[in-house]
Amino acid sequence: MKKTKAAITAVGAYLPDYVLSNAILETMVDTNDEWITTRTGIKERRILKEENAGTSFMAIKAAEDLLQKRGLDPKEIDFVLVATATPDLPVAATAAYVASEIGAVNAFAYDLQAACSSFLYGMSTAASYIESGRYKKVLLIGADKMSSIIDYTDRTTCIIFGDGAGAALFEPNEEGLGLQDEHLRSDGIGRQFLKIEAGGSILPPSAETVANKQHYVQQDGKSVFKFAVSNMADVSKMVMDRNELIHDDVQWLVPHQANKRIIDATAKRMGLSDEKVMMNIHKYGNTTSATLPLLLNDYESKLKKGDNLIFAAFGGGFTWGAIYLKWAYNS
Ligand code: UT7
Repeated sequence: MKKTKAAITAVGAYLPDYVLSNAILETMVDTNDEWITTRTGIKERRILKEENAGTSFMAIKAAEDLLQKRGLDPKEIDFVLVATATPDLPVAATAAYVASEIGAVNAFAYDLQAACSSFLYGMSTAASYIESGRYKKVLLIGADKMSSIIDYTDRTTCIIFGDGAGAALFEPNEEGLGLQDEHLRSDGIGRQFLKIEAGGSILPPSAETVANKQHYVQQDGKSVFKFAVSNMADVSKMVMDRNELIHDDVQWLVPHQANKRIIDATAKRMGLSDEKVMMNIHKYGNTTSATLPLLLNDYESKLKKGDNLIFAAFGGGFTWGAIYLKWAYNS
């Protein structure tokens, strides 16, 4: 008997209206469009400006977009997983709130945090619940309000990140479509290179940590870049080789959007031409947990049933990995 696979059967997205362009950033910090474009590939990003709105605001909207497109009754959802590095509250899962707000009253819900690899790891978690046979509909949402943890006087980080949310529904598939293989990795050496120092159990919040700006993202960009380039390319190539895929067999690379140069290096290593590489970093910047589902939403109309997709991500921790998935529907 063929093993049940976990397929993505619908996607949805939400992006805030406010556009933070490179031109606006030039008025805020000592930077320029040319530097940002050539070093990162980013032209603009979206920022959530609504008052008292956190990550759940965007996650709910992305989920509602998916539910509406698919015509799905939220009561049918078994599990809501929110991949995020910026939960609404440090304690009390954002996913539980999101599930209630969208009417997924029969679901259980929790958050998953693996920095920029959160959605990739979430795909593995979502698929495992489906493959186990115990659950039929898993809603995975990747959402981050990065603007809530960015210092807009620090030119090394504020030009990179943006806000957004994307959602994907996982369901059983008996045709062999869906998640085929994965290789997930982590290495704690990364903690020193990409972190928020305070607000956790080592250094709880205090007047001093606020004054020292220790609640913002700090990144040693050069070091992270080096690890990201080699590791993202390595795992992507490894997943291709292990599944005997050559470049012609892969229709799409779905890479985390941290830096266009990292994406280009990964595609090169896999032997993929530019038109096979999903890209939206120029429009949204690095939306952390939302990059992968936002790509799926942007490219949904181009995807065909049976297409071979390689997802790849690298993030703080360090965390990274690649997933091979066969697309399951024509839109
Ligand atoms: O998604 C999670 C994982 N994160 C990543 O994968 C990010 C990986 N890292 C990167 O993408 C890149 O390292 C950055 C885009 C963050 C930085 O690019 P870089 O080519 O590594 O630049 P750099 O940090 O080595 O800085 C080069 C120069 C420095 O000046 P000096 O010391 O050479 O005089 C920086 O001070 O560029 C300067 N610089 C800037 N100049 C204008 C740094 N940020 C800016 C800026 N505008 N915004």
